[in-house]
Amino acid sequence: MLAIDLIQLCICFILGVLGDVGTEIKTVRGIEGQTITLNTGLTGLQNDSIYWTYGPVRAQTRIATLNVGRNIPEYNERLNLDAQSGSLTIRSLTTSDNGIYELTVLREQVLKQTFKLTIYAPVSAPYIRPQTQSRSLASPLKQESCSVVCTVKNGRDVTLSWYRGEERINQTINPDTNKTLFLPLEVNEGNDIYSCVANNPVSDQTIKLSIEEHCQPDSARELHIAYCTLMQPGL
Ligand SMILES: *[C@@H]1O[C@H](CO)[C@@H](O)[C@H](O)[C@H]1NC(C)=O
Ligand SMILES: *[C@@H]1O[C@H](CO)[C@@H](O)[C@H](O)[C@H]1NC(C)=O
Ligand SMILES: *[C@@H]1O[C@H](CO)[C@@H](O)[C@H](O)[C@H]1NC(C)=O
Repeated sequence: MLAIDLIQLCICFILGVLGDVGTEIKTVRGIEGQTITLNTGLTGLQNDSIYWTYGPVRAQTRIATLNVGRNIPEYNERLNLDAQSGSLTIRSLTTSDNGIYELTVLREQVLKQTFKLTIYAPVSAPYIRPQTQSRSLASPLKQESCSVVCTVKNGRDVTLSWYRGEERINQTINPDTNKTLFLPLEVNEGNDIYSCVANNPVSDQTIKLSIEEHCQPDSARELHIAYCTLMQPGL
């Protein structure tokens, strides 16, 4: 998390230096399918022409215009430009809404505000499997230790972590979002509660480790299924 914040801070700083003097960039996070408002904090805009520009890297394309004096709003149906504040609301967010948004207010002095919008999908649910390789080395009858691996579909800024109680004991990330995230855990006998957490800046999902369910080696589970099938001749 800290690394991500630092990177964003650096990006803001660099863009700030390259952009207009005094233009600071506000970082805003949105969730796919939801609505977000880029709040200007302005009030009572009167007779000012207002427009928003957008681009994935630089805000080059005009997307919404409002001439308050003539009261002519132009925008596509997913956008709403508030006449009093100039704030822009975007509905039904998709990842193609990622990028830089810039507000321009034309008055005696041109006023600009810049926003960097990042859209996240809610993180997927992680799941836990026994780790089969190391399992075959251990005696399947001994239960004092077990190896599991937690897995989640990767995505933008997704972190996968193991917690023992409240304490984070391991974590992994991969900037290549095509690569599934895996995180192994060696569990020792005891009363500790282990949970695997997948999170991104807008959401998180947790699964608790159950020794009975997740430490069962595949062979034992198959035996169990075979046994149950045998006992139910109808199947
Ligand atoms: C806005 O413009 C109209 C017509 O140009 C003028 O009558 C009105 O006084 C202006 N309002 C302000 C607050 O400047
Ligand atoms: C943390 O996970 C890595 C694999 O991502 C593993 O090699 C390492 O042993 C784990 N550390 C602990 C303390 O479990
Ligand atoms: C991830 O997958 C997409 C679509 O399959 C592909 O276009 C992209 O190049 C891949 N990215 C990496 C880093 O491999």
